[in-house]
Amino acid sequence: MQMRAAVLEEFGKPLVVQEVELADPGPGEALIRLVACGVCHTDLYTASGVDPSGYAPTVLGHEGAGVVEAVGDGVESLTVGDHVVTLFSPQCRECAHCRDERTNICLAIREQQGRGYLPDGTTRLRRDGGELRHFMGTSTFAEYTVMPEIALAKINPEAPLDRACLFACGLSTGLGAAMNTAKVREGSTVVVFGAGMVGLGAVAGARIQGAERIICVDLSDDRLGLAKGQGATDVMHGGPGIVDAILAETDGFGADYTFEATGNVAVMRQAVESARMGWGLCTIAGVAGKGETLDVVPRFLITGRRVAGSSFGGVKGRDGVPKLVDLYMQGKIDVDPFISHRITLEEVNRGFELMEAQDGIRSVIKFDA
Ligand SMILES: NC(=O)c1ccc[n+]([C@@H]2O[C@H](COP(=O)([O-])OP(=O)(O)OC[C@H]3O[C@@H](n4cnc5c(N)ncnc54)[C@H](O)[C@@H]3O)[C@@H](O)[C@H]2O)c1
Ligand SMILES: [Zn+2]
Ligand SMILES: [Zn+2]
Repeated sequence: MQMRAAVLEEFGKPLVVQEVELADPGPGEALIRLVACGVCHTDLYTASGVDPSGYAPTVLGHEGAGVVEAVGDGVESLTVGDHVVTLFSPQCRECAHCRDERTNICLAIREQQGRGYLPDGTTRLRRDGGELRHFMGTSTFAEYTVMPEIALAKINPEAPLDRACLFACGLSTGLGAAMNTAKVREGSTVVVFGAGMVGLGAVAGARIQGAERIICVDLSDDRLGLAKGQGATDVMHGGPGIVDAILAETDGFGADYTFEATGNVAVMRQAVESARMGWGLCTIAGVAGKGETLDVVPRFLITGRRVAGSSFGGVKGRDGVPKLVDLYMQGKIDVDPFISHRITLEEVNRGFELMEAQDGIRSVIKFDA
């Protein structure tokens, strides 16, 4: 079929929205009609050419939600009409990692996905007779996509898809960091560094877990205001003196749980040092630049602090994303404040500009069929 898609033709250049060809789903795959898709930093990171593993041409986009239009042979968990959220982090339910509760990092299709192909090593996307590669296994800056069944989370069909798409990446990452990776205990004190999509999700996750005190740290007053809306009890401006300020607020001890959602390694260090002696757990969700390292004085660890990393919030996508969407449907997560701009596919580059200007949290593309 022919469809409109936003193609990264050349690094550092605007995406080009154009007609491309999409082949039918193969065995174990499904055709999805996208209804909405968030514009995320990871798309921009690849488009800019800074990501060392990036490639072009490709159809970007990974925060998609839509409707199953067709399924390939052997697909059992999805049928036509199901509502789905796309997963750049799949869940095959069979590999050693999927069968272990300690991780969500599925091993099934990592290599092909990283190279821009579906699990059988081929692409469903073509343009002018030449192949176009998939991006993050999702390629959702497009009216349709073909994805493996194991990378699609079937959600409550009542959930509005223009909100549900945010659960495809940043929101689940933040919520999951607090709920799955750290498993924040009731009554605890939490510090979240960064109030973007991921940090705000961690604030909401800590609130849902019953944290008593949630201190959010950012540089932007607007974003700290959003953090209060998600349940932050205190907000602070980040900077060199922030560790001392947090210690002063926590009887000199630091917080039971800290979360880093800025991607800045200096802030990661602050997050480790703001965690409480004895049992403080620092969870790192931010993605640092290539080659950067985290500097930690070992004494902080010997005296009982721990450091954990969290990818996609530790959420096993097919099982976990539908549950998070249900929490939203029960009124426990306020998603609307995250959506600052609604744009069309043709305006995708405007979504990048808004993100670079830190104007709002998310632009969401609405596809009108
Ligand atoms: N682990 C994962 O699976 C995963 C998934 C998605 C995104 N991420 C990463 O998470 C990070 C956050 O993503 P986002 O979409 O929320 O980004 P964002 O840019 O919207 O938010 C980052 C926030 O950090 C704040 N900040 C910058 N410097 C600071 C400082 N010194 N002290 C306090 N706050 C500071 C900024 O003001 C901003 O509000 C990024 O590094 C992103 O790549 C990780
Ligand atoms: Zn993303
Ligand atoms: Zn797996």
